[in-house]
Amino acid sequence: MNTALEALQADITTLDVDAIVNAANSSLLGGGGVDGAIHRAAGRELLEECRLLNGCRTGEAKMTKGHKLRARHVIHTVGPIWNGGTQREPGLLRACYENSLKLAAEHGLQSMAFPCISTGVYRFPPDQAAQIAVDTVREFMREPSSVRRVIFCCFGKSDFDLYQALLQ
Ligand code: APR
Repeated sequence: MNTALEALQADITTLDVDAIVNAANSSLLGGGGVDGAIHRAAGRELLEECRLLNGCRTGEAKMTKGHKLRARHVIHTVGPIWNGGTQREPGLLRACYENSLKLAAEHGLQSMAFPCISTGVYRFPPDQAAQIAVDTVREFMREPSSVRRVIFCCFGKSDFDLYQALLQ
């Protein structure tokens, strides 16, 4: 499988991919951080569509249209809140990546971009999160699927450097 994994330092709302992944909260009704940026860029219709989804559990993923975004879809996932690492946070973060990838593949999507899920407001250590993200995507890519291109979209340089080092 020649699937491209790449790190990019960018605002995820600007990316022209089949789906961008949103680090949402369980209500799916918007918030701050990347969630806020995605809702601002997508417009009111995204919130209206999210209202119909009846929330999302931590580690799960749900998909909507992209609305005013360049991306055709948004895959909303809810990362774990870091609580010292003894409350199954690593496994739940892995599930966010796995379920987002599975959802993209179920819909035949070819390109997608992840933010650094849970590493902002949810305080997950960025280095551990980046390792989980890359390992999980690499594991998924061992099996054939429609997904050809996965971008780790880093807002900050420190995250970008982490992913670059892991992807060498
Ligand atoms: N593009 C890409 N990445 C972004 C953007 C953006 N426009 N804005 C923020 N980020 C990055 C942050 O720098 C961080 O690295 O997204 C990563 C995730 O941080 P948060 O957005 O705070 O998400 P998270 O830690 O998962 O917390 C989720 O925050 O915004 C609320 O509603 C959200 O309650 C939920 C919680």
